[in-house]
Amino acid sequence: MATVNSNYDKLPAIYLFSEIARKTAAFAKKNAGVEILKLGIGNTTEPIGTTIISGFKKGVEKLSKTSTYSGYGDEQGDLRLRSALSNWYKKSKIRIDPLEIFISDGAKSDSANIQSIFGPTTKVAICDPVYPVYKDSNVIAGRKVIYMPCNENNGFFPDVPKEKVDLIYICSPNNPTGAVATQPQLKKFVNFATAKKAVIIFDAAYFAYIKDPKFPKSIYEIPGAKKCAVEINSFSKWAGFTGVRLGWTVVPMDLICQNAKRGKLNSLWNRRQTTMFNGASNIVQEGGLAALTQQGQKESQKVVNYYMENAKLIKKTLERTGLKVYGGQNAPYIWLKVPKGMTSWNFFDKLLEEAHIVGTPGSGFGPSGEGFFRLSAFGHRQNIQKALRSIEKNLKI
Ligand SMILES: Cc1ncc(COP(=O)(O)O)c(C=O)c1O
Repeated sequence: MATVNSNYDKLPAIYLFSEIARKTAAFAKKNAGVEILKLGIGNTTEPIGTTIISGFKKGVEKLSKTSTYSGYGDEQGDLRLRSALSNWYKKSKIRIDPLEIFISDGAKSDSANIQSIFGPTTKVAICDPVYPVYKDSNVIAGRKVIYMPCNENNGFFPDVPKEKVDLIYICSPNNPTGAVATQPQLKKFVNFATAKKAVIIFDAAYFAYIKDPKFPKSIYEIPGAKKCAVEINSFSKWAGFTGVRLGWTVVPMDLICQNAKRGKLNSLWNRRQTTMFNGASNIVQEGGLAALTQQGQKESQKVVNYYMENAKLIKKTLERTGLKVYGGQNAPYIWLKVPKGMTSWNFFDKLLEEAHIVGTPGSGFGPSGEGFFRLSAFGHRQNIQKALRSIEKNLKI
């Protein structure tokens, strides 16, 4: 007799983005003809640079000839791309061997799947609020998860846990708060993990938005991190691959934990990927190679700068209206404190009713997100400007 995995019942009853879609659709039905402006999505909107597009085309062309056709590739990814990423790290004085890099179809699946190489009783700590995948994937696997609250008092980055934990998820720049961890803050976590034989899962998907050199773009900028940290990354947010799908995960050979000597965790992730993943698209990997060329990076950076210009506009306008805002400086997310006495969902309704704008309630990212609201810098400039004009004119603070 089959039974369901009842751990699914422990997940929040409503999925954040489905509830937003439901409420937005209900508003649209009641207010036919009203233009609804979206400032809530974490999805890229601007076209990919021509160098990368040529890379994709090259990948497509290769499939049209017998001499260049390829079917399944290595599950770990095209060695040329793994080597290009290794060289990319080298520019930041980080030594990562291509065999420590695993190409994937994006950071979401890797950040959900990485927990599978750790034991069932592993105690997990996650920043709160944060990208929900880390918690949900561990809850589904039946693990105990503790929150590390991130709030105004700690600048939205937590101190190391007081209790014993084995697996620690850090996302920097953070989705949704836009907070970025400093060198000393990460160092403290690396020292903690090293001492406790814990492992850090570091999600660097928004690294390209860091402009201030005092913030590390990779956990491996911290000495000793290769012994205690996995890094998950993506082409989505810096090269516009959200719908294309390409990411990577670094599992260093040096990484150890309680019952794993050097090389073991790398080999487990290799086993997991070869068993359950058939490799990223060869067309897409050609695009990834093009993105890592000097010109590809230059074109992508231009788009990142465009989004950051949006972030600046949003931040400035909200501040002018008297709202308290965080983030938006080295991250594409603006984290606003909702006016006193309102919940995140109350503010969602207010913003939609009064200014016809859809954002994301902070409480959907964890309990410490209550009382906050996420706005995103991803969007066409005219739409962002229209939304901001509507906030200034119609939102009653
Ligand atoms: C922190 C974080 N990590 C990972 C992802 C997903 O990245 P990908 O598109 O590579 O799956 C997102 C997407 O919003 C994210 O916010």
